[in-house]
Amino acid sequence: METAIKEFINYTEPYKKYGEKIDLKIKHTMRVKDICERIAKSLNLPKEEIKVATICGLLHDIGRFEQWKKYQTYSDKDSIDHGNLGYKILKENNYLSKYTDNREYESSILKAVKYHNKFRVPKNMTKKEKRFSNITRDADKIDILYLYQIGVFLVDDENSKISNEVYQSLLNNKLVNKKDIKTKADRTAIRLGFIFDINCKYSFQYIKENHLLEDTIEKQIKQTTNKELKNQLKEIQIVIDNYIEEMLTC
Ligand SMILES: [Fe+2]
Repeated sequence: METAIKEFINYTEPYKKYGEKIDLKIKHTMRVKDICERIAKSLNLPKEEIKVATICGLLHDIGRFEQWKKYQTYSDKDSIDHGNLGYKILKENNYLSKYTDNREYESSILKAVKYHNKFRVPKNMTKKEKRFSNITRDADKIDILYLYQIGVFLVDDENSKISNEVYQSLLNNKLVNKKDIKTKADRTAIRLGFIFDINCKYSFQYIKENHLLEDTIEKQIKQTTNKELKNQLKEIQIVIDNYIEEMLTC
């Protein structure tokens, strides 16, 4: 892993001049890498596959640096899909080979990077590809929830409520599509709904034990002055708690 981490540090070095946003992405990457490793260990995967999962975490946001350099935004909607861009960077001149010489897992890593930010992964993935994609998606979501917990993201708007379509999706244990965002509160609601796209048992345990969602929802209930939003959040909290319990006992 040391060689891979060194290569990542070399790759990101020239982007550091673009400021703090680059540092934040590097830190996020390192946490996601560690979470991927922990999930892979919890699944009792062989050593080689634990390494593959760790590399997926290390590379999942490799497209972010060029995205920031070119567009000065991390909004895919306003610039470029960073999963696709990462895939392209790793494919070009076989850059991925600087991170691993194990060709058996090449497509798993490339697809984990490409699809980590998509609403759904394609149905035609192999079992192996799907495994690494799921691990990467879980780890990335866990770290986003952590950033909420520590207050990097705040409730977007105290005065808007969650729109009906988004609210109903959450009450029905469904991940919300970004396309359905109508109000500012929807943005926060969508991230709470990440829980419905978590795959591995370890991830549920991690979210529960670290109170990742609990703290965030409670903080938001306290912060908002909008009674309707407060009630919506309380309902969502119950639904999420029940869902986590259900997933931990199955
Ligand atoms: Fe990420």
